[in-house]
Amino acid sequence: GNRLNSLGRDYSQAEDREIHAQALEALDREKLNAGPFIGGALKAGESPRDVTSPCDRARILGHASEATAEDVDEAIQRAANAQVAWDRAGGAARAVVLRAMGDALEADMDRLIALLCREAGKTLDDGVAEVREAADFCRYYAMLAEQQFGGPEDLIGPAGETNRLVLHGRGVFACISPWNFPLAIFTGQVAAALAAGNAVLAKPAEQTPLVACEAVRQFHKAGLDPDLLALVPGRGETVGAALVNHPGIDGVAFTGGTETAFAINRSIAAREGAIIPFIAETGGLNGMFVDTTALREQVIDDVITSAFGSAGQRCSALRILFIPKANADDFIQRLAGALKTRVIGDPADPSTDIGPVIDAESREILEKHVQRLEKEAKVVARADLPEGAERGDLFAPVIAEIPTPDFLEKEVFGPILHIYRYDPDNLEEVARKLAARGYGLTLGVHSRIDAFAADVMALVPAGNVYVNRSITGAVVGVQPFGGEGLSGTGPKAGGPNSLIRYASEKAISVNI
Ligand code: NAD
Ligand code: ALA
Repeated sequence: GNRLNSLGRDYSQAEDREIHAQALEALDREKLNAGPFIGGALKAGESPRDVTSPCDRARILGHASEATAEDVDEAIQRAANAQVAWDRAGGAARAVVLRAMGDALEADMDRLIALLCREAGKTLDDGVAEVREAADFCRYYAMLAEQQFGGPEDLIGPAGETNRLVLHGRGVFACISPWNFPLAIFTGQVAAALAAGNAVLAKPAEQTPLVACEAVRQFHKAGLDPDLLALVPGRGETVGAALVNHPGIDGVAFTGGTETAFAINRSIAAREGAIIPFIAETGGLNGMFVDTTALREQVIDDVITSAFGSAGQRCSALRILFIPKANADDFIQRLAGALKTRVIGDPADPSTDIGPVIDAESREILEKHVQRLEKEAKVVARADLPEGAERGDLFAPVIAEIPTPDFLEKEVFGPILHIYRYDPDNLEEVARKLAARGYGLTLGVHSRIDAFAADVMALVPAGNVYVNRSITGAVVGVQPFGGEGLSGTGPKAGGPNSLIRYASEKAISVNI
């Protein structure tokens, strides 16, 4: 009940592998349904379609439909009505429900891992980490709800007057999430908004409605009044846009691409009515700087994990590795060798390291980028695809050397590592060119010299800096996560200030 860190699985053990095989088998016998889920009831919605697996497009996992404008209106009405009592109930009461949700996720871990594997192409280790992160968000925000929404804080004031500050929910939040953490980010946004005393309409990514629908069912089973959380699935340009423009929405939490955040920001600015907060967590152009004192084996390991783990589909993933020119040939050769040892294939197989990318569109964008690299840069290594790769959206990971530090204008979202060999005399100029792109999410440094790390940190903006380790896999409460500039507005997810922008402050002065 009160655990802060969630349970895991160890697939090096035959017993856990067997549990996984059974969970997959059971899931494959089901036909799942996702659609507008309002007041605890799954509605018909519109534009029904099959949901298939990125690992095998012939595998139909279930069906999904989209929310209609009437569904959105109904969900907002119900949410607004239910929010008043939820807000007044206080942080401690809300914490009980959020902790129950953490426990429910953990209890259903194997089924959720199987679903993450089939719908989002997650490897088993990524699946475990994702369920754990979702549970951690629930428990961490439960703790913050108790600490920060437990009642008014006494302030100073003159004799004869009490002055108090109280945090409360804003009303109805729209939570719009991406496909790359379809359970953890989905649950994290919803849990934060609920913890602060809001009701929620959640719009999952088009690619992953089934996982989202499961998460909503779990919240309701954990004791949440169904009117406080509705699922309104559908396309971003239609359902997402309708949501952020709806006058009944009192705040928007968004995680996804930077361009989408621009579009939502513009819509919110043009809305009639109240001025509402916009919390955005977006993309990154994440660099790692290595100097000649770095430990070679550790660098190779951390680079492979950071660039190719989760098929490079993490906002935190390493995009550009900066290596001093004296060491570059050696590093590139070792990285190419290490890439060849990665197993690419079906994520349901415990030996797979790198699963598919999310869809054909994503694979085509990445292939197009590789064509650019072949022409304007130098591809130094490419992994091989296994037989049968064409059944799904497997993409062969790439390592390429780029000719300039600012070769990439934007985030490239997939398993492609770019390397730039720099002259240590020009470190400042190189770092400034990366910084000039305007992102600020993760940053890695590998060095035994503190001053080197301090210089890089001072030159390249980043919300999360990692020294002498991988740059992915932030843990709730341990590495509060989120960027600056083009990478997001903050507050960080999984940190002590996470709930502040989901809340309003009321100062109450009483003359006694
Ligand atoms: P996306 O921006 O395409 O979509 C994200 C969500 O926004 C989806 O639910 C989508 O339907 C919705 N959407 C799209 N257009 C909309 C509109 N006009 N109005 C309202 N909603 C709209 O992103 P994606 O491809 O799903 O996810 C990958 C991106 O997410 C990458 O850029 C990655 O870096 C970023 N990301 C960031 C973080 C972070 O914490 N900083 C975490 C994970 C992913
Ligand atoms: N929070 C995720 C990570 O750190 C995106 O990798």
